[in-house]
Amino acid sequence: MKYIGTLVTILSLAAGAASAESHATGNAEDGEKGFKKCKACHVIAKEDGTEIVKGGKTGPNLYGVVGRVAGSLEGFKYGDSIVALGETGFVWAEEDFVTYLADPTDFLRTKLDDKKAKSKMSFKLNKQDDALDIWAYLASVTE
Ligand code: HEC
Repeated sequence: MKYIGTLVTILSLAAGAASAESHATGNAEDGEKGFKKCKACHVIAKEDGTEIVKGGKTGPNLYGVVGRVAGSLEGFKYGDSIVALGETGFVWAEEDFVTYLADPTDFLRTKLDDKKAKSKMSFKLNKQDDALDIWAYLASVTE
């Protein structure tokens, strides 16, 4: 019985790992093109400084944002609301990323249940498919 229990644990861990990988449902190639909309304000640069996409500095570096705690990139001056969200342990995942892009301020208000919450990101991307593609692209460039 103990053996079966262990087997079940291993199988469910394996299933969990598989679903984490397939968590990008979009098309990374289309997302690379779609990222043009983001690079006015965001770079994608590795920790060693290698730039995958050159971009503006108004927003945080999006390298490694997949699975990162919101508002947690060191050295970037986030707004208070996204920092408060990160303090709840919130980690970026596909579905929330899509909702966030559609309306960042509204997303923070809903998540924090605070009508005064505000996002410093003054950009909206309402096309869900485009957002999914960009997520897939961001996941694909992160090692
Ligand atoms: C006009 C500038 C601007 C554009 C364009 C923009 N962003 Fe942002 N973005 C920001 C700013 C500023 C923040 C920081 C938000 C805050 O502190 O509340 C941010 C934050 C984010 C975050 C949260 C990151 C973290 O570390 O928690 C994500 C994810 C994000 N942007 C994705 C995107 C994507 C994807 C696009 C393109 C579809 C995009 N942004 C376009 C300015 C921009």
